[in-house]
Amino acid sequence: MSKITAAITAVGAYVPEYVLTNEILETMVETNDEWITTRTGIKERRILKDPDKGTSFLGIKAAEDLINKSGVDPSEIDMVIMATATPDLPVASTAAYVATQIGATNAFSYDLQAACSSFLYGMSTASAYVASGKYKKVLLIGADKMSSIIDYTDRTTCIIFGDGGGAVLFEPNEEGLGLQDEFLRSDGIGRDFLRIEAGGSLMPASEETVANKKHYVYQDGKTVFKFAVSNMADVSERIMQRNNLSHDDVSWLVAHQANKRIIDATARRMGLDDSKVLMNIARYGNTTSATLPLLLNDFEKQFKKGDNLIFAAFGGGFTWGSIYLKWAYNA
Ligand code: UT7
Repeated sequence: MSKITAAITAVGAYVPEYVLTNEILETMVETNDEWITTRTGIKERRILKDPDKGTSFLGIKAAEDLINKSGVDPSEIDMVIMATATPDLPVASTAAYVATQIGATNAFSYDLQAACSSFLYGMSTASAYVASGKYKKVLLIGADKMSSIIDYTDRTTCIIFGDGGGAVLFEPNEEGLGLQDEFLRSDGIGRDFLRIEAGGSLMPASEETVANKKHYVYQDGKTVFKFAVSNMADVSERIMQRNNLSHDDVSWLVAHQANKRIIDATARRMGLDDSKVLMNIARYGNTTSATLPLLLNDFEKQFKKGDNLIFAAFGGGFTWGSIYLKWAYNA
């Protein structure tokens, strides 16, 4: 019997309609299109304006898109993993709610939080369950309503983040396609540089935490940038070496969209030319857990069966890593 690998067999995505452009941000904070474009590569982001809708809405829409495109019967899904840094509620699982709403009534489900690496780590978890032979259909959703935790008077963060969701289905493969190798890392040193200070067990919500804006994302951008550039490039280079992949063997770099300069630096270390580097940061900004599946959805038609994809991400914690996956179908 051939070894079972876990392959991505379908993708879907959703972004909200409202477009927050650099020009609109110029009217909100002291910034300008030229600064944002040259420092980050971002031109616009999508924002979920409806105050009654949380991250589950983005996840449900993305999963429904996948179900409609692929024709998968949601009642056959065994497991739903919701990669998110912005769950609907601090305690009740967003994944459980999403699974029920999409009709995945025979699935068990849970949330997975690793900041901007949530989806990458989720790929590891989803594929391990499938490759073990335990489950046959694992739905991995990456979604974040970043606008719910951003201070729109803070120019250092509000220009970066956007809202969105994406989903992939992992299924067993007997042709050796799907996830080949992974190199995942974390370092708790990161918690001082990228965090939300209050609202957790360390500093519960109080009138003071609200008044002092401690429920919003804080980032020491320069420091995070330095760690992101070196670590994302390191793991991507390492996974290539470990699998004897030259730059010619790599078909696509699927990198977390936090800053165009970080992605370019990673691609340079890997020796890739721009045509292999997937990029949609200009349109969506940093959607945290949704960047990787949004890329897969946007570029799905260009992928061919057998293509070698290198995934890379870096995020709060710090958390980071790289995954090597062989694409399993022609769209
Ligand atoms: O996804 C999770 C991981 N996160 C990341 O990977 C993000 C990593 N960090 C970054 O992408 C970048 O550090 C930022 C985009 C956040 C900032 O870019 P930077 O080139 O590191 O800028 P900086 O923070 O060093 O700021 C440079 C200057 C400062 O002015 P002075 O002190 O040189 O006079 C800032 O005050 O730019 C100023 N500045 C702005 N100017 C116009 C900061 N934000 C803005 C702004 N518009 N929005």
